[in-house]
Amino acid sequence: MKKYFIHTFGCQSNKSDSERIAGDYEARGYQPAKSWEDTDEVVVNTCAIRKSAEDRARAFVLKVVKHYKDKKLPKPKIIFTGCMLHHGKNKIMDMVVDIDEILPVNEVGFNQSAVRRDKKHAWIPISAGCNSFCTYCIVPYSRGREQSRSMEEIIKEVKDLVEKGYSEITLLGQNVNSWGLEKLGIGLRKMLMSQDEFTREMIPDNQSQYLKPKGTPPFVKLLREISKFPEIKIIRFLSSNPWDFHDELINEVVNNKKIDRYVHLPVQSGSNTVLERMNRGYTTQDYEKVANKLMKGDPNIVLGTDIIVGFPGETNEEFEETVEFAKRMNWQVGFVAMYSPRPGTAAFKLYKEEIPYKIRKNRWEILDKIINKDNLKTRPKVV
Ligand code: 5AD
Ligand code: SF4
Repeated sequence: MKKYFIHTFGCQSNKSDSERIAGDYEARGYQPAKSWEDTDEVVVNTCAIRKSAEDRARAFVLKVVKHYKDKKLPKPKIIFTGCMLHHGKNKIMDMVVDIDEILPVNEVGFNQSAVRRDKKHAWIPISAGCNSFCTYCIVPYSRGREQSRSMEEIIKEVKDLVEKGYSEITLLGQNVNSWGLEKLGIGLRKMLMSQDEFTREMIPDNQSQYLKPKGTPPFVKLLREISKFPEIKIIRFLSSNPWDFHDELINEVVNNKKIDRYVHLPVQSGSNTVLERMNRGYTTQDYEKVANKLMKGDPNIVLGTDIIVGFPGETNEEFEETVEFAKRMNWQVGFVAMYSPRPGTAAFKLYKEEIPYKIRKNRWEILDKIINKDNLKTRPKVV
């Protein structure tokens, strides 16, 4: 029997994709290899969010090739998938010469059955891609336009999971709250990015890419449908963005106790001028309103966030604003990242004022310490 091994970089979406890639292998009669050191095929599921993630994927391929060469064994077939495919097939093949095959991740599909390690908790992808225009982000280029999976398919997967004994699920999407909303902006991104004269004013608002829900937002309906299964005890979802955390969703989170009391809500910066350059489309005051409604609605609710430090042109004053915001928000956890310029993104084209590595690192250390260490003493506990 032939063996496969999947090495996964990056976020939960990638981990979930890898589970379905494994499902595809096993449907074709392959068995999982214990290690990449002894396998017939290696899938490298890549992340492109920062340059360092791309570097690690390339280093991994080199390590695999060297290992088989040193042992004088035939090299396994190396298959590249995930977000690094934004470079395009030809460029990827040039960048990492040892790749044998490219697997566009949308070819795996939502409905391929997954091979899950965990027996209690399961990831369920509910949407793929992203229609937003955050200037720093490569995801809309690597994962394409946002597509929602149908309610029927999602509920069918929940049913299957319940039958197998699962009780905890995490719904996954780049912008999970916009699930089921009508999407706009077809072809807009390509058109924009091909412009020679590209200005900040040309970038549309993130919110403008989704039609406002009439009545109850589809995502709230989905949460209610899933909650009807008595066997499902905990529901989580990732990632949310402030722009479609409508009051009805806030109320659902507050009142529906199956929804985990930890809510991940990335702010990205605590400075309104940086948020504007990032094109996030909200202010820190808007963010705080959503956060307060959640935490006042149920004092057991805690928030976590993602923050980028060293965005182009970030001044000391702007960084200080983020520091003050972090102290006030007292997040349960903060994933702090140093800005990494991603060729092809709007920020890469628009903002040339790069912050030196030393300063970015220093800001990272200060903020990480405040959120993930100092604030611990005064933080509410997760229940
Ligand atoms: N540089 C640094 N961090 C980034 N993120 C997204 N793009 C970049 C970038 N170019 C971070 C954001 C996002 C998380 C998944 O990764 O904080 O929420
Ligand atoms: Fe990137 Fe913004 Fe989409 Fe999140 S919402 S994936 S940060 S473009």
